[in-house]
Amino acid sequence: MKVAIFGATGTIGKTILWELMDRGHEVTAIVRDPSKVEMVHERLRVEKGDLLNPDQVADFTAGQEAVVSAYGPKFGEEEELLEVTRSLIEGVRRGKASRLVVVGGAGSLLTDSGEMLMDTPGFPEEVRTLAKAHVDAYGLIEESDIHWTYMSPAATITSGPRTGHFRIGMNRLVTDDLGESTISVGDFAAALVDELDDPQFIGSRFTVAY
Ligand SMILES: NC(=O)c1ccc[n+]([C@@H]2O[C@H](COP(=O)([O-])OP(=O)(O)OC[C@H]3O[C@@H](n4cnc5c(N)ncnc54)[C@H](OP(=O)(O)O)[C@@H]3O)[C@@H](O)[C@H]2O)c1
Repeated sequence: MKVAIFGATGTIGKTILWELMDRGHEVTAIVRDPSKVEMVHERLRVEKGDLLNPDQVADFTAGQEAVVSAYGPKFGEEEELLEVTRSLIEGVRRGKASRLVVVGGAGSLLTDSGEMLMDTPGFPEEVRTLAKAHVDAYGLIEESDIHWTYMSPAATITSGPRTGHFRIGMNRLVTDDLGESTISVGDFAAALVDELDDPQFIGSRFTVAY
């Protein structure tokens, strides 16, 4: 499949890029600094582009079967997430890519108490602004007229191994027997590429955890 990815130099995006390459996809990575992409492969094209520029998003995603965004804003610049999301939606619409899969936040997942995770006691104060920005960005995606999928990580993403074993949920936080919600970055990437290979959640959100 022809896949374009943004954020391929980040923690999650880099792992998604490895997973895409491992599964034989033809990938275009659009990054601000191509020298940061160490991988060289005949099925990988690296382009210099900025997500804040909808013209570049449209140009680089035109004709792609899927566009993945693993973009993340810098600490203190969380509002940029909304500008990037608008640009991404506009670019994907204009470029007529078949679908958009966005790596979002876990803060808006519902817990057993019926509250969003970000409204529960103990939610880390330092990521509250980011969690709120993700809620607003998710709203823009939900309202859009493109084929979207929003993927919320578990509450915690770890650097643990890729096991290939995990559970999928939709709007509810997935927790284990101890009430913990975690996923390794490798298994998160595996679940995302599973969704590209076998679409189950077009027009909806899903999450993944052990
Ligand atoms: N439990 C949770 O809710 C949870 C946990 C982890 C992550 N997340 C979310 O998952 C997403 C990815 O996280 P991460 O940790 O992988 O982030 P990260 O390591 O900070 O990577 C962010 C990526 O976005 C790219 N980027 C930033 N601004 C850009 C722009 N204007 N144009 C193009 N690319 C741009 C960066 O490129 P450069 O290399 O050029 O800077 C980098 O590749 C974030 O939105 C984060 O909030 C959620």
